[in-house]
Amino acid sequence: MTDAKPLDSDDDDAMTDTPSPPSPEEIGLFAFQVWNYKQGEMVSLLIHLGDRLGLYRAMRDAGPLTAAQLAERTGLHERWLLEWLRGQGAAGLLTWHDDDHFELTDAAAAVLADEHSSLFFAAGAFGTPAAPDFVDDLADAFRTGLGLPYDRQGPAGAHRTERMLGPWTRIALVPRILPALDGVEAKLDAGGVVADVGCGAGLAVIALAERFPRSHIHGYDISRHAIERAQQLVADAKVANVTLHLAGADTLPTEATFDLVLTLDCLHDMTKPTETVAAIRRSIRPDGTWLVKDIRCAPRAKDNLANPMAAMMYGFSIASCMSSALSEPGGAGLGTLGLHPELLEQLCAEAGFSQFRIHDFDEPANLYYEVRI
Ligand SMILES: C[S@@+](CC[C@H](N)C(=O)[O-])C[C@H]1O[C@@H](n2cnc3c(N)ncnc32)[C@H](O)[C@@H]1O
Repeated sequence: MTDAKPLDSDDDDAMTDTPSPPSPEEIGLFAFQVWNYKQGEMVSLLIHLGDRLGLYRAMRDAGPLTAAQLAERTGLHERWLLEWLRGQGAAGLLTWHDDDHFELTDAAAAVLADEHSSLFFAAGAFGTPAAPDFVDDLADAFRTGLGLPYDRQGPAGAHRTERMLGPWTRIALVPRILPALDGVEAKLDAGGVVADVGCGAGLAVIALAERFPRSHIHGYDISRHAIERAQQLVADAKVANVTLHLAGADTLPTEATFDLVLTLDCLHDMTKPTETVAAIRRSIRPDGTWLVKDIRCAPRAKDNLANPMAAMMYGFSIASCMSSALSEPGGAGLGTLGLHPELLEQLCAEAGFSQFRIHDFDEPANLYYEVRI
Protein backbone atom coordinates (compact mmCIF):
# COMPACT_ATOMS: atom_id res chain seq x y z
CA MET A 1 0.00 0.00 0.00
CA THR A 2 1.35 3.46 -0.86
CA ASP A 3 1.15 6.47 1.44
CA ALA A 4 -1.58 8.98 0.60
CA LYS A 5 0.06 12.24 -0.57
CA PRO A 6 -1.36 15.75 -0.18
CA LEU A 7 -2.21 17.52 -3.49
CA ASP A 8 0.74 19.85 -3.01
CA SER A 9 3.66 18.55 -1.01
CA ASP A 10 4.04 21.88 0.88
CA ASP A 11 2.99 21.28 4.49
CA ASP A 12 0.79 24.35 4.59
CA ASP A 13 -1.17 23.08 1.61
CA ALA A 14 -2.00 19.69 3.08
CA MET A 15 -5.72 19.11 2.58
CA THR A 16 -6.06 15.65 4.10
CA ASP A 17 -7.27 16.58 7.62
CA THR A 18 -10.93 17.31 8.25
CA PRO A 19 -10.96 20.95 9.37
CA SER A 20 -12.39 21.75 12.77
CA PRO A 21 -14.70 24.79 12.95
CA PRO A 22 -12.76 28.04 13.43
CA SER A 23 -12.54 29.47 16.91
CA PRO A 24 -13.79 33.00 17.59
CA GLU A 25 -10.14 34.01 18.14
CA GLU A 26 -9.17 32.63 14.74
CA ILE A 27 -12.02 34.51 13.07
CA GLY A 28 -11.13 37.65 15.00
CA LEU A 29 -7.50 37.46 13.88
CA PHE A 30 -8.54 36.90 10.29
CA ALA A 31 -10.94 39.85 10.46
CA PHE A 32 -8.10 41.97 11.82
CA GLN A 33 -5.92 40.92 8.87
CA VAL A 34 -8.67 41.94 6.44
CA TRP A 35 -9.42 45.25 8.19
CA ASN A 36 -5.72 45.99 8.14
CA TYR A 37 -5.99 46.24 4.35
CA LYS A 38 -8.86 48.70 4.78
CA GLN A 39 -6.63 50.61 7.17
CA GLY A 40 -3.96 50.54 4.43
CA GLU A 41 -6.46 52.03 1.99
CA MET A 42 -7.18 54.95 4.32
CA VAL A 43 -3.53 55.48 5.23
CA SER A 44 -2.79 55.46 1.47
CA LEU A 45 -5.22 58.32 1.03
CA LEU A 46 -3.46 60.30 3.77
CA ILE A 47 -0.06 59.58 2.17
CA HIS A 48 -1.39 60.81 -1.17
CA LEU A 49 -2.65 64.02 0.48
CA GLY A 50 0.62 64.48 2.36
CA ASP A 51 2.58 64.19 -0.89
CA ARG A 52 0.16 66.28 -2.91
CA LEU A 53 -0.06 69.11 -0.39
CA GLY A 54 3.69 69.16 0.25
CA LEU A 55 3.29 68.23 3.92
CA TYR A 56 6.18 65.75 4.04
CA ARG A 57 8.42 68.20 2.24
CA ALA A 58 7.41 70.93 4.71
CA MET A 59 8.26 68.64 7.64
CA ARG A 60 11.64 67.49 6.33
CA ASP A 61 14.50 68.61 8.61
CA ALA A 62 12.04 70.60 10.71
CA GLY A 63 12.16 68.53 13.92
CA PRO A 64 8.97 68.06 15.96
CA LEU A 65 6.12 70.32 14.79
CA THR A 66 2.64 71.14 16.01
CA ALA A 67 -0.32 71.49 13.66
CA ALA A 68 -0.16 75.26 14.15
CA GLN A 69 3.49 75.32 13.09
CA LEU A 70 2.77 73.12 10.07
CA ALA A 71 -0.15 75.42 9.17
CA GLU A 72 2.22 78.39 9.30
CA ARG A 73 4.70 76.61 6.99
CA THR A 74 2.11 75.48 4.45
CA GLY A 75 -0.71 78.04 4.61
CA LEU A 76 -3.21 75.19 5.16
CA HIS A 77 -5.92 74.87 7.81
CA GLU A 78 -4.70 73.85 11.24
CA ARG A 79 -7.66 71.61 12.16
CA TRP A 80 -7.26 69.54 8.97
CA LEU A 81 -3.54 69.27 9.53
CA LEU A 82 -4.04 68.16 13.13
CA GLU A 83 -6.23 65.23 12.03
CA TRP A 84 -3.73 64.33 9.30
CA LEU A 85 -0.81 64.48 11.77
CA ARG A 86 -2.64 62.26 14.24
CA GLY A 87 -3.50 59.78 11.48
CA GLN A 88 0.09 59.66 10.27
CA GLY A 89 1.30 59.33 13.86
CA ALA A 90 -1.13 56.48 14.46
CA ALA A 91 0.16 54.79 11.29
CA GLY A 92 3.73 55.06 12.59
CA LEU A 93 4.81 57.22 9.65
CA LEU A 94 5.42 60.25 11.84
CA THR A 95 6.93 60.11 15.30
CA TRP A 96 4.28 61.27 17.76
CA HIS A 97 6.33 62.90 20.51
CA ASP A 98 3.87 64.19 23.08
CA ASP A 99 0.25 65.05 22.68
CA ASP A 100 0.77 67.60 19.94
CA HIS A 101 4.24 67.33 18.36
CA PHE A 102 4.95 65.23 15.28
CA GLU A 103 8.25 64.60 13.50
CA LEU A 104 9.29 63.28 10.11
CA THR A 105 12.50 61.35 10.76
CA ASP A 106 15.33 61.28 8.21
CA ALA A 107 14.44 57.70 7.24
CA ALA A 108 10.81 58.72 6.73
CA ALA A 109 11.92 61.71 4.67
CA ALA A 110 13.91 59.42 2.34
CA VAL A 111 10.74 57.47 1.59
CA LEU A 112 8.12 60.22 1.73
CA ALA A 113 9.84 63.50 0.82
CA ASP A 114 13.04 62.85 -1.07
CA GLU A 115 12.03 62.24 -4.67
CA HIS A 116 15.23 63.39 -6.32
CA SER A 117 17.96 61.62 -4.43
CA SER A 118 16.46 58.62 -2.64
CA LEU A 119 16.00 55.28 -4.38
CA PHE A 120 13.51 54.48 -1.63
CA PHE A 121 11.13 57.35 -2.43
CA ALA A 122 7.59 55.94 -2.42
CA ALA A 123 5.11 58.71 -1.69
CA GLY A 124 4.63 59.37 -5.41
CA ALA A 125 3.21 55.87 -5.84
CA PHE A 126 0.13 56.75 -3.79
CA GLY A 127 -2.47 58.03 -6.23
CA THR A 128 -6.14 58.71 -5.89
CA PRO A 129 -8.44 55.68 -5.61
CA ALA A 130 -9.43 54.06 -8.92
CA ALA A 131 -12.46 55.70 -10.56
CA PRO A 132 -15.68 53.66 -10.20
CA ASP A 133 -16.12 53.26 -13.97
CA PHE A 134 -12.56 51.96 -14.27
CA VAL A 135 -13.31 49.37 -11.59
CA ASP A 136 -16.54 48.46 -13.46
CA ASP A 137 -14.43 47.81 -16.55
CA LEU A 138 -11.99 45.70 -14.56
CA ALA A 139 -14.83 43.59 -13.22
CA ASP A 140 -16.09 43.20 -16.79
CA ALA A 141 -12.62 42.03 -17.83
CA PHE A 142 -13.10 39.00 -15.58
CA ARG A 143 -16.19 38.19 -17.70
CA THR A 144 -14.86 38.98 -21.17
CA GLY A 145 -11.20 38.06 -20.62
CA LEU A 146 -10.17 41.26 -22.37
CA GLY A 147 -8.07 43.70 -20.33
CA LEU A 148 -7.60 47.48 -20.42
CA PRO A 149 -4.67 49.31 -21.99
CA TYR A 150 -2.70 51.76 -19.87
CA ASP A 151 -4.52 54.72 -21.40
CA ARG A 152 -7.79 53.57 -19.83
CA GLN A 153 -6.36 54.91 -16.54
CA GLY A 154 -6.29 58.44 -18.00
CA PRO A 155 -3.50 61.02 -17.63
CA ALA A 156 -3.44 60.36 -13.87
CA GLY A 157 -2.40 56.74 -14.54
CA ALA A 158 0.57 57.85 -16.66
CA HIS A 159 1.49 60.38 -13.99
CA ARG A 160 1.31 57.77 -11.21
CA THR A 161 3.58 55.40 -13.19
CA GLU A 162 6.02 58.25 -13.75
CA ARG A 163 6.12 59.15 -10.04
CA MET A 164 6.38 55.52 -8.95
CA LEU A 165 9.15 54.41 -11.32
CA GLY A 166 10.86 57.76 -11.93
CA PRO A 167 13.31 57.78 -9.03
CA TRP A 168 14.79 54.43 -10.11
CA THR A 169 15.22 55.67 -13.66
CA ARG A 170 16.67 59.05 -12.70
CA ILE A 171 19.00 57.83 -9.98
CA ALA A 172 20.06 54.35 -11.08
CA LEU A 173 19.97 54.03 -14.88
CA VAL A 174 22.78 56.31 -15.99
CA PRO A 175 25.13 56.18 -12.97
CA ARG A 176 24.70 52.54 -11.99
CA ILE A 177 23.17 50.34 -14.66
CA LEU A 178 24.69 51.56 -17.95
CA PRO A 179 28.32 51.37 -16.72
CA ALA A 180 27.76 47.65 -16.03
CA LEU A 181 26.92 46.96 -19.69
CA ASP A 182 29.78 45.90 -21.90
CA GLY A 183 30.96 48.79 -24.13
CA VAL A 184 27.66 50.69 -24.13
CA GLU A 185 28.85 53.97 -22.59
CA ALA A 186 31.77 54.26 -25.04
CA LYS A 187 29.48 53.66 -28.01
CA LEU A 188 26.96 56.25 -26.88
CA ASP A 189 29.68 58.76 -26.01
CA ALA A 190 30.89 58.51 -29.59
CA GLY A 191 27.31 58.90 -30.88
CA GLY A 192 24.83 56.07 -31.19
CA VAL A 193 21.15 55.44 -31.81
CA VAL A 194 18.97 54.29 -28.92
CA ALA A 195 15.35 53.10 -28.63
CA ASP A 196 13.44 53.07 -25.35
CA VAL A 197 10.44 50.84 -26.10
CA GLY A 198 7.54 51.36 -23.67
CA CYS A 199 9.19 54.64 -22.64
CA GLY A 200 6.25 55.92 -20.56
CA ALA A 201 6.77 59.57 -19.58
CA GLY A 202 10.24 59.55 -21.14
CA LEU A 203 12.39 59.86 -18.02
CA ALA A 204 14.97 57.37 -19.33
CA VAL A 205 14.88 59.03 -22.75
CA ILE A 206 15.73 62.38 -21.15
CA ALA A 207 18.39 60.95 -18.82
CA LEU A 208 20.14 59.32 -21.81
CA ALA A 209 19.76 62.37 -24.06
CA GLU A 210 21.38 64.57 -21.40
CA ARG A 211 24.21 62.17 -20.64
CA PHE A 212 24.97 61.31 -24.28
CA PRO A 213 24.49 64.49 -26.35
CA ARG A 214 26.05 62.90 -29.45
CA SER A 215 23.53 60.06 -29.45
CA HIS A 216 19.94 60.17 -30.65
CA ILE A 217 17.28 58.66 -28.40
CA HIS A 218 13.92 57.39 -29.71
CA GLY A 219 11.05 56.78 -27.29
CA TYR A 220 8.16 54.49 -28.29
CA ASP A 221 4.93 54.02 -26.37
CA ILE A 222 1.36 53.16 -27.31
CA SER A 223 -0.02 55.34 -24.50
CA ARG A 224 -1.14 58.75 -25.70
CA HIS A 225 -1.13 60.08 -22.14
CA ALA A 226 2.42 58.86 -21.53
CA ILE A 227 3.74 60.28 -24.81
CA GLU A 228 2.03 63.65 -24.20
CA ARG A 229 3.68 63.80 -20.79
CA ALA A 230 7.02 62.76 -22.35
CA GLN A 231 6.70 65.55 -24.95
CA GLN A 232 6.20 68.08 -22.19
CA LEU A 233 9.15 66.80 -20.12
CA VAL A 234 11.43 66.68 -23.17
CA ALA A 235 10.53 70.29 -23.96
CA ASP A 236 11.16 71.31 -20.33
CA ALA A 237 14.54 69.54 -20.38
CA LYS A 238 15.43 71.30 -23.67
CA VAL A 239 17.02 68.20 -25.17
CA ALA A 240 17.09 68.21 -28.98
CA ASN A 241 18.48 64.69 -29.58
CA VAL A 242 15.13 62.96 -28.93
CA THR A 243 12.28 61.66 -31.11
CA LEU A 244 9.10 60.40 -29.50
CA HIS A 245 6.80 57.97 -31.31
CA LEU A 246 3.20 57.31 -30.32
CA ALA A 247 3.68 53.76 -31.56
CA GLY A 248 4.26 50.25 -30.33
CA ALA A 249 7.11 47.81 -30.48
CA ASP A 250 5.63 46.41 -33.71
CA THR A 251 6.64 49.65 -35.51
CA LEU A 252 10.37 49.39 -34.78
CA PRO A 253 12.53 49.63 -37.92
CA THR A 254 13.02 46.30 -39.65
CA GLU A 255 16.66 47.03 -40.49
CA ALA A 256 19.51 46.96 -37.92
CA THR A 257 19.37 50.50 -36.49
CA PHE A 258 19.95 50.68 -32.75
CA ASP A 259 23.12 50.47 -30.68
CA LEU A 260 21.04 50.17 -27.53
CA VAL A 261 17.43 49.15 -26.99
CA LEU A 262 15.76 49.48 -23.59
CA THR A 263 12.59 47.87 -22.33
CA LEU A 264 12.17 49.08 -18.76
CA ASP A 265 9.44 47.49 -16.71
CA CYS A 266 7.18 46.95 -19.70
CA LEU A 267 7.79 43.68 -21.59
CA HIS A 268 5.44 41.84 -19.21
CA ASP A 269 2.76 44.49 -20.01
CA MET A 270 2.79 43.79 -23.73
CA THR A 271 0.17 41.72 -25.47
CA LYS A 272 2.73 40.13 -27.79
CA PRO A 273 6.08 39.79 -26.02
CA THR A 274 7.34 37.12 -28.45
CA GLU A 275 6.73 39.41 -31.41
CA THR A 276 8.31 42.33 -29.50
CA VAL A 277 11.48 40.34 -28.83
CA ALA A 278 11.63 39.42 -32.52
CA ALA A 279 11.10 43.07 -33.55
CA ILE A 280 13.89 44.18 -31.22
CA ARG A 281 16.17 41.46 -32.61
CA ARG A 282 15.58 42.82 -36.16
CA SER A 283 16.06 46.47 -35.17
CA ILE A 284 19.29 46.05 -33.21
CA ARG A 285 22.74 46.37 -34.75
CA PRO A 286 24.97 43.27 -34.75
CA ASP A 287 27.11 44.67 -31.91
CA GLY A 288 24.15 46.31 -30.15
CA THR A 289 22.81 45.69 -26.65
CA TRP A 290 19.30 45.20 -25.39
CA LEU A 291 18.77 46.16 -21.75
CA VAL A 292 15.71 44.65 -20.12
CA LYS A 293 14.53 45.74 -16.68
CA ASP A 294 11.77 43.51 -15.43
CA ILE A 295 10.23 42.46 -12.19
CA ARG A 296 12.14 39.98 -10.05
CA CYS A 297 9.98 36.84 -10.04
CA ALA A 298 10.11 33.07 -10.08
CA PRO A 299 8.95 30.39 -12.54
CA ARG A 300 6.80 28.80 -9.82
CA ALA A 301 4.18 31.35 -8.73
CA LYS A 302 4.18 30.28 -5.10
CA ASP A 303 7.91 31.04 -4.86
CA ASN A 304 6.96 34.70 -5.38
CA LEU A 305 5.76 34.63 -1.77
CA ALA A 306 9.42 35.24 -0.87
CA ASN A 307 8.62 38.79 -1.94
CA PRO A 308 6.88 40.51 1.01
CA MET A 309 5.12 42.75 -1.53
CA ALA A 310 3.73 39.88 -3.61
CA ALA A 311 0.09 40.69 -2.80
CA MET A 312 0.60 44.29 -3.94
CA MET A 313 2.30 43.01 -7.10
CA TYR A 314 -0.70 40.83 -7.96
CA GLY A 315 -2.90 43.88 -7.34
CA PHE A 316 -0.79 45.93 -9.77
CA SER A 317 -1.06 43.08 -12.22
CA ILE A 318 -4.85 43.04 -12.24
CA ALA A 319 -5.11 46.83 -12.26
CA SER A 320 -2.38 47.48 -14.86
CA CYS A 321 0.16 44.94 -16.06
CA MET A 322 -1.79 41.76 -16.81
CA SER A 323 -4.74 43.90 -17.83
CA SER A 324 -2.59 45.69 -20.42
CA ALA A 325 -1.05 42.39 -21.54
CA LEU A 326 -4.57 41.03 -22.18
CA SER A 327 -5.91 44.17 -23.82
CA GLU A 328 -6.01 42.56 -27.28
CA PRO A 329 -7.57 39.21 -28.20
CA GLY A 330 -4.91 36.51 -27.85
CA GLY A 331 -2.76 38.68 -25.54
CA ALA A 332 -0.04 36.76 -23.69
CA GLY A 333 -1.14 38.17 -20.32
CA LEU A 334 2.18 37.70 -18.54
CA GLY A 335 1.48 40.33 -15.88
CA THR A 336 3.63 41.85 -13.14
CA LEU A 337 5.16 38.61 -11.87
CA GLY A 338 4.96 36.69 -15.15
CA LEU A 339 8.29 37.33 -16.89
CA HIS A 340 10.84 35.29 -14.97
CA PRO A 341 14.47 34.91 -16.07
CA GLU A 342 14.03 31.44 -17.59
CA LEU A 343 11.14 32.57 -19.76
CA LEU A 344 12.96 35.69 -20.93
CA GLU A 345 16.08 33.66 -21.77
CA GLN A 346 13.93 31.27 -23.81
CA LEU A 347 12.22 34.14 -25.70
CA CYS A 348 15.63 35.67 -26.44
CA ALA A 349 17.10 32.40 -27.69
CA GLU A 350 14.07 31.76 -29.92
CA ALA A 351 14.47 35.23 -31.47
CA GLY A 352 18.13 34.61 -32.28
CA PHE A 353 19.93 36.32 -29.42
CA SER A 354 22.88 34.29 -28.17
CA GLN A 355 24.15 36.28 -25.17
CA PHE A 356 22.04 36.60 -22.05
CA ARG A 357 23.43 37.99 -18.82
CA ILE A 358 21.50 38.67 -15.63
CA HIS A 359 22.49 41.71 -13.54
CA ASP A 360 21.30 41.88 -9.96
CA PHE A 361 21.79 45.35 -8.55
CA ASP A 362 20.08 44.46 -5.26
CA GLU A 363 16.96 46.38 -6.24
CA PRO A 364 14.21 44.57 -4.34
CA ALA A 365 11.72 44.76 -7.20
CA ASN A 366 13.82 44.37 -10.34
CA LEU A 367 16.32 42.29 -12.25
CA TYR A 368 18.22 43.58 -15.27
CA TYR A 369 19.26 41.60 -18.33
CA GLU A 370 21.95 42.39 -20.89
CA VAL A 371 21.00 40.69 -24.14
CA ARG A 372 23.13 40.61 -27.29
CA ILE A 373 23.23 38.89 -30.65
C1 LIG B 1 4.91 50.27 -16.35
S1 LIG B 1 5.01 51.34 -17.70
C2 LIG B 1 6.77 51.62 -17.78
C3 LIG B 1 7.13 52.93 -18.38
C4 LIG B 1 8.63 53.27 -18.41
N1 LIG B 1 9.40 52.33 -19.17
C5 LIG B 1 9.19 53.40 -17.01
O1 LIG B 1 10.02 52.59 -16.60
O2 LIG B 1 8.80 54.35 -16.31
C6 LIG B 1 4.69 50.30 -19.09
C7 LIG B 1 4.54 51.07 -20.40
O3 LIG B 1 4.55 50.14 -21.49
C8 LIG B 1 3.71 50.66 -22.49
N2 LIG B 1 3.35 49.60 -23.47
C9 LIG B 1 2.54 48.54 -23.31
N3 LIG B 1 2.50 47.80 -24.44
C10 LIG B 1 3.33 48.40 -25.34
C11 LIG B 1 3.74 48.11 -26.67
N4 LIG B 1 3.28 47.05 -27.32
N5 LIG B 1 4.62 48.93 -27.27
C12 LIG B 1 5.11 50.04 -26.62
N6 LIG B 1 4.75 50.36 -25.36
C13 LIG B 1 3.89 49.56 -24.71
C14 LIG B 1 2.53 51.21 -21.71
O4 LIG B 1 1.75 52.11 -22.45
C15 LIG B 1 3.25 51.85 -20.52
O5 LIG B 1 3.53 53.21 -20.77
